[in-house]
Amino acid sequence: MVHLGPKKPPSRKGSMVDVPKNLMQEIAKLEALFTVDAPKLKAITDHFVTELTKGLSKKGGNIPMIPAWVMDYPDGSETGDYIAIDLGGTNLRVVLVSLLGDGKFDVSQSKYRIPSYIRTTKNHQDLWDFIAVSLSNFYKETFPDGTTEKIPLGFTFSYPCSQTSIDTGVLQRWTKGFDIDGVEGHDVVPMLNNALKQHDVPIEVFALINDTTGTLVASRYTDPQAEMGLIFGTGCNGAYYEKVNAIPKLEGKLDPTVDLNGPMAINCEYGSFDNEHLVLPRTKYDIIIDRDSPRPGQQAFEKMISGYYLGEVFRLVLLDLHAQRLVFEGQDLRDLQEAFKLDASFLATIEEDPFENLNDVEDLFTDVLGISTTDPERRLIRRLAELIGTRASRLSVCGVAALAKKANLKVCHAAADGSVFNKYPNFQERAAQGLDDIFDWNLPIDQHPIKLVAAEDGSGVGAAVVAALTAKRIAAGKAVGQLEA
Ligand code: GLC
Repeated sequence: MVHLGPKKPPSRKGSMVDVPKNLMQEIAKLEALFTVDAPKLKAITDHFVTELTKGLSKKGGNIPMIPAWVMDYPDGSETGDYIAIDLGGTNLRVVLVSLLGDGKFDVSQSKYRIPSYIRTTKNHQDLWDFIAVSLSNFYKETFPDGTTEKIPLGFTFSYPCSQTSIDTGVLQRWTKGFDIDGVEGHDVVPMLNNALKQHDVPIEVFALINDTTGTLVASRYTDPQAEMGLIFGTGCNGAYYEKVNAIPKLEGKLDPTVDLNGPMAINCEYGSFDNEHLVLPRTKYDIIIDRDSPRPGQQAFEKMISGYYLGEVFRLVLLDLHAQRLVFEGQDLRDLQEAFKLDASFLATIEEDPFENLNDVEDLFTDVLGISTTDPERRLIRRLAELIGTRASRLSVCGVAALAKKANLKVCHAAADGSVFNKYPNFQERAAQGLDDIFDWNLPIDQHPIKLVAAEDGSGVGAAVVAALTAKRIAAGKAVGQLEA
């Protein structure tokens, strides 16, 4: 049949010309739901500052603001050999770090995949044995002739731990989907040290470090302008240096060797910001994620923005649209119904699809979910991924802006790491735009006074620098923890 009338305009990348009206309306609704405008970002940031301050007070608040017992700035001169481990979501990373001074270092590392049952095992010994065996293998490969002394270990354990000293850490609660019985409320350091002893591994925990503290210290080792260590990854959190005398909850607990005008690294654990749900624009999808999580009511901020949850928000929206008969009519949705079926890299691939007709999205949906999509559905899918990714990046920087306000930082580097920061398309630009909106800079990104920069390796180099700083303090007879109760 000959097509009469005006020629249909070619569909442009991202164009919505072919999207039926009901889907267009749905996209508009999603845009309204997921967009966080500048005034809202500012309001969230202001509340965030109040909460950071509360966390440092004697009474405390929702944000733990944990003193990390790193009370010195590294200056790049630190030296020594250390082993560092990082218990991440999927891998255990083991690193041998040689600090060479002058801001230089060498690292060699191995990764050990954490068997997935361990994330939720009933027997926490499984976890410690796994780490001890991995460390034993690493030790044997690295030092085939053994060593005369025990090697000091910097243990990066990226969960909220109360620390009364640099080498203790009582797990407050698991985050990021970990749920191992018998660890919450206990000091994790003796647990690991015992397993190392049982497996005859001549390694001993010397410092327990959060990944954000490690990121802060590692970045500061090479960059004197680094004032914050941030993780935008499976979880979301930040660390900075606070003045000791601005931490009321430490009053009366400090040894006289601690300089009250000196710095103290604080692991904020700000993933728990707004657990009381006062300012964050939660959607019904965020509420479902929280309700079905192992720790409902915890980590409200993190659950809206971190990599662990992005795919889940996306999945829940699509299921909802399907229930309203707006997408995927007549398709088998069994795969999409599986909780946590999609991770952040799924959304990243959608956002990165270079094709006019969203070919990659089409393949992704058929391959991973067994769903064939129509062109308008793919446009909606792409827009939804953009909205979720944009919301995450903009909300994420409320933590950064709040830290800057709290510590009165006007010009600095905010050193960031994590899979979302490093790999999620456009995250960095969107985050920078979010900061610009909060501070009304109206400047091109390269002129931003507070710049998000790629961090140095926190859990390797950072852990080693913390260990070196700690060794220096101990040698000088200075405290590395609070007074005994
Ligand atoms: C979670 C953890 C926190 C960590 C962050 C980034 O928020 O509770 O300790 O820093 O994830 O990994």
